[in-house]
Amino acid sequence: MSQAVVGPTSTYVRAVSLTNMRNYDNAEVSFTPGVTVLVGANGQGKTNLVEALIYLSTLGSHRVATDAPLIREGAELAVVRAEAVRDGRPTLLEMEIHAGRANKARVNRTAVPRTRDILGILKTVVFSPEDLALVKGDPSDRRRYLDDILVQRQPRFAGVRSDYDRVLKQRNALLKSSHAVRRGDRTEMDRTLQVWDDQLAEFGAELMAARIDIIGRLASPAAQSYAALAGAEAILGVDYAPSIDISATPPTPEALAERLRESLAARRREELERGITLVGPHRDEVALTLLGRPLRGYASQGESWSAALALRLASYDVLAEHGDEPILILDDVFAELDSVRRGHLVQRISVTPQTFITAAVEDDVPTGLGAHWFDVRQGAVSARGG
Ligand SMILES: Nc1ncnc2c1ncn2[C@@H]1O[C@H](COP(=O)(O)OP(=O)(O)O)[C@@H](O)[C@H]1O
Ligand SMILES: [Mg+2]
Repeated sequence: MSQAVVGPTSTYVRAVSLTNMRNYDNAEVSFTPGVTVLVGANGQGKTNLVEALIYLSTLGSHRVATDAPLIREGAELAVVRAEAVRDGRPTLLEMEIHAGRANKARVNRTAVPRTRDILGILKTVVFSPEDLALVKGDPSDRRRYLDDILVQRQPRFAGVRSDYDRVLKQRNALLKSSHAVRRGDRTEMDRTLQVWDDQLAEFGAELMAARIDIIGRLASPAAQSYAALAGAEAILGVDYAPSIDISATPPTPEALAERLRESLAARRREELERGITLVGPHRDEVALTLLGRPLRGYASQGESWSAALALRLASYDVLAEHGDEPILILDDVFAELDSVRRGHLVQRISVTPQTFITAAVEDDVPTGLGAHWFDVRQGAVSARGG
């Protein structure tokens, strides 16, 4: 197979350097476009290496919700760097990850005001065994899937999301404290809540409108990939399932904000009783169906794998449609896939500018990819064959 073509609208990773990240003390590795395979026994650092790239593109990990586990045991901070090349021009991305205080990001050795300013430069799509949670896990797993696409596509939504989270937290704290408020002070409480309602509705509606837009783009490529993976008659449905009825609401931020305000007003008493915010995008869900039936609770293991893979490939398509093609990361998945799914994936890899594959067993990796091979052993990475 010939090497994938890197056009002007694709970015590839030319180098990665890790200091005190996970089980890496110090490592520097150079890469080329096309397919890179990282092989090594379990627990050697294959996933840790690709996790560094994922972190630089999403400011998070596909494995953990907090930063602390990313820092090598006993170290104060981790430093993760990657050189991303686009159209022949390199951009150096750097992140200092601290456990107890704010992280620091640099682009081309210059500090940026907020870490989220590095988002959008390096885009990644990861497919890993953890992705079964997209089908079988909690709604939060699917919200995260959606928001990761959103933020990589339009980094400003990282700001919208953190504004929303902040307002939600403060509103919840206020609702919780309401039990302690004497009856005479209720008007003051209501007035304060109204202020939070307006902000929650404003940020929440922006997030909802953007998610609905993303779902609209994902649905058809996801269904197509699923059909190719599992047989043409199986139709995968991907729909936004909000916590409020928006069937008669146009999906614009203005209309959704109005609708959210109405819903908050209607459920205020219940919210005060329970001390928690019951409506808003933090309660929304992505509904996955197969021939109209919910996947969760019904799908077989094979169907679940196909659906998860179809969702990841669809996210690749949606990210590629808007700017550069992302880097595809296949973390330990070939051993899990049957020959039809493998074949489909190999076909996709052949037209992807840069792919990283990790595997514990060499024989699990399909042949004919024209790959560059690296051995990973105890936090050291070495290229094979010179
Ligand atoms: N913060 C950390 N400090 C030191 N070692 C770590 C840290 N986090 C994970 N590890 C080690 O990294 C190894 C797992 O690496 P990983 O990349 O997931 O393996 P694999 O090669 O199987 O993908 C384990 O041995 C684990 O103990
Ligand atoms: Mg692994």
